[in-house]
Amino acid sequence: MTDHQDVRPGSTTAAPVVVELANVTKAFGAVQAVRGVTLRVEPGQVYGLLGPNGAGKTTLMRILLGLVRSDAGTVRVLGEPPGDPRTLRRIGALIESPAFVPHLSGRVNLQVLARARGLPDAEVDRVLRVVDLEGAADRRVTGYSLGMRQRLGVAGALLGEPSLLILDEPTNGLDPEGTAAMRSLIRDMAAHATVLLSSHLLGEIQQVCDRVVVLDKGEVVAEDSVSELLSRAGERTVVLEAQPADLTEKVLKANDAWSGATRDDSSWRLELDGAGVPALVRALVEAGVEVHEVRRERRSLEEVFFALTGDHHPVRSGT
Ligand SMILES: Nc1ncnc2c1ncn2[C@@H]1O[C@H](COP(=O)(O)OP(=O)(O)OP(=O)(O)O)[C@@H](O)[C@H]1O
Ligand SMILES: [Mg+2]
Repeated sequence: MTDHQDVRPGSTTAAPVVVELANVTKAFGAVQAVRGVTLRVEPGQVYGLLGPNGAGKTTLMRILLGLVRSDAGTVRVLGEPPGDPRTLRRIGALIESPAFVPHLSGRVNLQVLARARGLPDAEVDRVLRVVDLEGAADRRVTGYSLGMRQRLGVAGALLGEPSLLILDEPTNGLDPEGTAAMRSLIRDMAAHATVLLSSHLLGEIQQVCDRVVVLDKGEVVAEDSVSELLSRAGERTVVLEAQPADLTEKVLKANDAWSGATRDDSSWRLELDGAGVPALVRALVEAGVEVHEVRRERRSLEEVFFALTGDHHPVRSGT
């Protein structure tokens, strides 16, 4: 998704980094909501903020919109300090549950937002089409389902074709079908905008984001591309199926593979880096061990998350 524009600092032709945070902190009284967060979001990325309840996701998004002031650190959004009126016009946001006037229709609610920003009603029609809400547009919002409200919120964020979309848990409360539809909507949006998206649903981040920061209690515990994060997490664990067990054990002990090895019947889990695998397989075969399978273990983002943050958080895997 990343386009390959020159983003080197100081380069005059550089497309600015869309979001840049350096050592950002924020406390609410005694609660340290954000602790020294540093990250960069490049143009065209779908960037995920992943973390359990209270991790600081919403607070970070509020900071980017200038709704909350950070205590320390530097924040740049589209090259400017947060809350800059010129850049705010280029940002669409959906933070927590979208607020609408309940007795007005979805269309009128959007028209109010659009007119306040000098946008024509045709723009309202456009965003209603994008979120597939044309059929319900003239019904009162009070009769909308949670999923319809969520889509209306996204429609509001899309007004004026923003170049940065900030979506706080956009699939909150959606059923699997609605979640899938939202996912493909986000993918479509990413063709025209940079998307910053928060979630505690790991499956969602895994499927829709290019890059992810994992937050826990306000702190960055990992920042990487989704594929790197997944492969890094499975990097050292190798599963070996081999027989007979006693002979296998003897060879493992004679090689460096013994340290940290665990066994379940004829299946072994070993901690080995890439170079160790061929040497071990050769030693096993030479000793007369029957090697049935050797594979590197791949962990889901959920397991990676638990490994990074401890397993006491109420995080569930999305579908
Ligand atoms: N306005 C506020 N006043 C006091 N404390 C706050 C305020 N906003 C956030 N906090 C605290 O800051 C921490 C981070 O909250 P935040 O809402 O950013 O987390 P989150 O990652 O969005 O969580 P969730 O997944 O539940 O939405 C929490 O401990 C929260 O209680
Ligand atoms: Mg939140």
